[in-house]
Amino acid sequence: MMKVSFHGHSVVMIETNGKKILIDPFIRGNSQTDLNADTVECDVILLTHGHNDHVGDTVEIAKRNNALVVATADLATYLGFQGLNVHGMNIGGAYEFDFGRVKLTQAFHSSHYTEANQNIVYTGMPTGILFTAEGKTIYHLGDTGLFSDLKMIGEMNDIDLAFIPIGDNFTMGPEDAAIAAKWIGAKLVVPIHYNTFPVIQQDPNKFIELLDGVEGKVLQPGESITL
Ligand code: NI
Ligand code: MN
Repeated sequence: MMKVSFHGHSVVMIETNGKKILIDPFIRGNSQTDLNADTVECDVILLTHGHNDHVGDTVEIAKRNNALVVATADLATYLGFQGLNVHGMNIGGAYEFDFGRVKLTQAFHSSHYTEANQNIVYTGMPTGILFTAEGKTIYHLGDTGLFSDLKMIGEMNDIDLAFIPIGDNFTMGPEDAAIAAKWIGAKLVVPIHYNTFPVIQQDPNKFIELLDGVEGKVLQPGESITL
């Protein structure tokens, strides 16, 4: 059995095969999270892209837990320079890790990390993540606008659970996210990337109402789904 929990913004924790896999651990400054950056435990961190609201506390959490960090080659190289144990990948590529299979997908967005001294480091292409373990596939869309190849991703993969951004402004809003949900054909969709900042205020229940033939569920920070 796989336990998948939501922790506010785009933070997702997957527990499978005795391993804890943390996606986009933005904890400090995340008004929606129930996690504590000083105590959260993980074996692996998966990153969708380099924006600070996704990389978040990766450096500190990875060092304290001696966790492996998986991201695009560009972002992985940057984080490797900071002493982290990294595994670089790129869009369309999959790798079978001992904790599960990771495949990076396209996302239509941007990707950079803003350092404390206001220096901007571009970190390659943004991605979504297809994660497969125990015969189940989870699709974390990362940050993205609506694009038609989501249909192809849906046709090529049997997706059990998808995390879809609905905040608008930086990503899809609820209407486009409902179309994405239909195209990817997930058995269950969970809205993410909303209410963290003033410009991404949304009522997630309105997104659920917009869903057409797709099951959706709003998760409160800390709530989980068992697959
Ligand atoms: Ni972003
Ligand atoms: Mn974001």
